[in-house]
Amino acid sequence: MADKPTKGLADVVAASTALSDIDGRAGRLFYRGYDIHDLAGRTSFEETAHLLQCGTLPTRTQLAEYGAELVRGRVLGPLVEANIAEIAERQAPMEALRTLVSLAGADDPDKDSNALDANRRKAARLTAQQPILVARYHAARSGRQAPEPDPELSIAANFLLQITGRTPSEREIEIFDTCLVLHADHTMNASTFAARVCAATLSDMHSAIVAAIGTLKGPLHGGANEQVMRTLETIPPDGVARAVRERLAAGQKIMGFGHRVYKTEDPRATHLREMSRELAEASGDATYYRMSKEMEEVVHAEKGLYPNVDFYAATVYHYLGIPTDLFTPVFSVSRMSGWTAHVIEQHADNRLIRPDSEYVGESDRKWVPIDER
Ligand code: ACO
Repeated sequence: MADKPTKGLADVVAASTALSDIDGRAGRLFYRGYDIHDLAGRTSFEETAHLLQCGTLPTRTQLAEYGAELVRGRVLGPLVEANIAEIAERQAPMEALRTLVSLAGADDPDKDSNALDANRRKAARLTAQQPILVARYHAARSGRQAPEPDPELSIAANFLLQITGRTPSEREIEIFDTCLVLHADHTMNASTFAARVCAATLSDMHSAIVAAIGTLKGPLHGGANEQVMRTLETIPPDGVARAVRERLAAGQKIMGFGHRVYKTEDPRATHLREMSRELAEASGDATYYRMSKEMEEVVHAEKGLYPNVDFYAATVYHYLGIPTDLFTPVFSVSRMSGWTAHVIEQHADNRLIRPDSEYVGESDRKWVPIDER
């Protein structure tokens, strides 16, 4: 007989990891021991991915090698190439990514190995391909060709170039790169847990990532950033306080607020708020930023809740010219670095993840033949 479960596994330690750590009371986040405040704005996404997947911040030589691996790895396989146009026509962005990553697995040369070296190569390829998949999906559904990625540019710069079709400014690239760093890993969040459960059956990395993408999609997790923007677009600029109070009174959640682990400000939101303010001012129309600030104040006054990573990410992506329905795919572009690192970690020291459950159904029922029911 199992103990009573903690609903939603709150406070349950489900795995050991050396990848990231959160101090929810102090509002601190660490990647492999480095404070996120030290990494954000100083360390590129490529360096962060190397830190997570290979264990160290890279030297210049290691970064050049890893960068070259990413450039080689972003070439899409024939199965993806053959199907991406039809998928873009028929599936919403996160559904399409789930499908495309699954198809990409078929053409991955290391698909049948969970060995450390094969897993590291797959992690680099998946990290390289995810932004290309999003860009190619968006181009296909828009009936245009995505510009070719420039091997001299970073993942952040190429992504903005491919999505918006224009050369981004240096500051836009820095801001988007910082967003990718901030979203790269976050302990045992729902999508990472899903990936680890799948990997722990000794299934392969692509399968684990498909599970993670399906899990990130939901509005209680990564899907919240899109919902934040839809909320801002729906309510009148001078009606923020009223709209928030009405939604709370109706028992609705305000997307982009609250967190299972943080009891104070999410340190990622601190950076995102500032970047949102900067971009809003530069855009000449700070309406959405001002609305966001007001929403933050009202939600805190009414519920004592703080914005999570998704709240200010929404307006940052908006001001960068990213379409709203690609916000959660952008999250996946970054989190791919963390998911794959977790699969590597799980396979390196594996035990099947198989928790127990509390039975709450009926018992001692008497079976009767079908014609007597
Ligand atoms: N708006 C209004 N009330 C909220 C919110 C919110 N955003 N978040 C939590 N609450 C309230 C709940 O209604 C509940 O109140 P009650 O005790 O009176 O019933 C209480 O706070 C606890 O909320 P739970 O949902 O039980 O907290 P949990 O830890 O299970 O959920 C979660 C955390 C899912 C993030 C929640 O805060 C939420 O739904 N937020 C909105 C969705 C969102 O922004 N998700 C993104 C999270 S960050 C990420 O995944 C990348």
